Amino acid sequence: PKVTWIQPSGEKVTADVPAGHNLMEAAVANNVPGVIGECGGCLSCATCHVYVDAEWSDRAGPPGEMENDMLEVTAAERRGTSRLSCQLIAGDALDGIVLHVPQA
Ligand code: FES
Repeated sequence: PKVTWIQPSGEKVTADVPAGHNLMEAAVANNVPGVIGECGGCLSCATCHVYVDAEWSDRAGPPGEMENDMLEVTAAERRGTSRLSCQLIAGDALDGIVLHVPQA
């Protein structure tokens, strides 16, 4: 499935991500600046914060309960479309998803 990350500058990275990989791992593997993933995806760092593009927000769905708590401590402001990208999994349902990287 394809995933696109857009930087605050407008710079884009699009990658073909293996199904089942989470989108934090995918960002790190594709050298996307601004998505760190310090905790390795175990919901304890919030450095994988992204804003899901408005067109994709419904399909991505709402954050889980623990994710929701961690979204309170993101470095960049939380918005309605905020998700922790280690909790988004590449797959057919999200093929083509667009994620905006927060301003550092
Ligand atoms: Fe740490 Fe997502 S990688 S919360």
